Amino acid sequence: MEGRHERRKSDHLRIALEEEVGFPRLTTGFERFRFLHQALPEVDLERVDCSTEFFGKKLRTPLLISSMTGGTSEAETVNLRLAEAAQATGVAMGLGSQRAAVEDASLEYTYRVRRVAPDILLMANLGAVQLNYGYGVDQARRAVEMVEADALILHLNPLQEALQPDGDWNWSGVLSRIEEICRALDVPVVVKEVGWGISGKVAKWLADAGVSAIDVAGAGGTSWSQVERFRAPDERWERLAASFEDWGIPTAESLLMVREAAPGVPVIASGGIRNGIDVAKALALGASLAGMASPFLKAASVSSQAVVEEIELISKQLQVACFASGAKDVEALREPGRLYRV
Ligand code: FNR
Repeated sequence: MEGRHERRKSDHLRIALEEEVGFPRLTTGFERFRFLHQALPEVDLERVDCSTEFFGKKLRTPLLISSMTGGTSEAETVNLRLAEAAQATGVAMGLGSQRAAVEDASLEYTYRVRRVAPDILLMANLGAVQLNYGYGVDQARRAVEMVEADALILHLNPLQEALQPDGDWNWSGVLSRIEEICRALDVPVVVKEVGWGISGKVAKWLADAGVSAIDVAGAGGTSWSQVERFRAPDERWERLAASFEDWGIPTAESLLMVREAAPGVPVIASGGIRNGIDVAKALALGASLAGMASPFLKAASVSSQAVVEEIELISKQLQVACFASGAKDVEALREPGRLYRV
């Protein structure tokens, strides 16, 4: 029998692929920044180096395939295609929430991608609110070991839970439980949102709790209130979700807030990043990596080759953006004066 979590996961995949789930008006904020074009780059395009290192692993491009799925056989196919593409292109990947497999070991296979991606930076994923509903250090370790991950991502999705009649609504005390996980695990712990961004205050709390990186997952890309709207059981829940259609901290704003409030913590920028120029802007604003979810899901619904092609295009766009800004590498892209506000 199909369980509640599996049903939820297959709904998410279908809705994200078939419906309009962007923000109606709110944007990432990256359009308010522009690179200062350099008519004399004084660098050799072929020698522009966008490689980087994160959590001790080398990435050919500072790109993360953001956490999406698992728990169903369809999700297994998506995960394997994403992982093959990540291995072929040298980028990082996050798995979708592993709650389904923590609760039912027969679903572990839908997340296990190491055999096709032995070298990638791979991150496990659980919802932080589960720490208020019986999960603790054991389940966190289990999620990491199950997939041979290099790090654990805990996602924060309070608004998404609030928009579901059977959501997990008790978020009091979650921060101290995140702190416990950070203390107990021997892999780095990343905390991310799912598309409404992280404020400066939350970033400071997370930094003090000992997280190893923060993924802002800001507003302007996939909107989870829109996704939940399509899953609403009746008009009342539909209208509740609809009223939050433009809620959230735009990704570029969140990135700046987090950098200021927690300057020592590496930041991943995601939420509405759609091309290599967005990636370049995120890096110039201080992100260590940029993450994308929905564009890779669409490509993965075709083939792993389609994901490879998408990643190659984004890498090329990033390389040309560096070149045309006169930056020989990602570090140079961060020098003051390359990006300006319009
Ligand atoms: C997601 N996202 C997500 N995040 C997470 O931490 N755990 C999860 O299980 C999921 N599941 C999931 C499923 C699907 C189908 C999508 C499209 C997304 C959120 C994702 O990682 C990301 O933060 C947001 O989607 C914003 O990025 P994009 O889509 O605007 O690039």
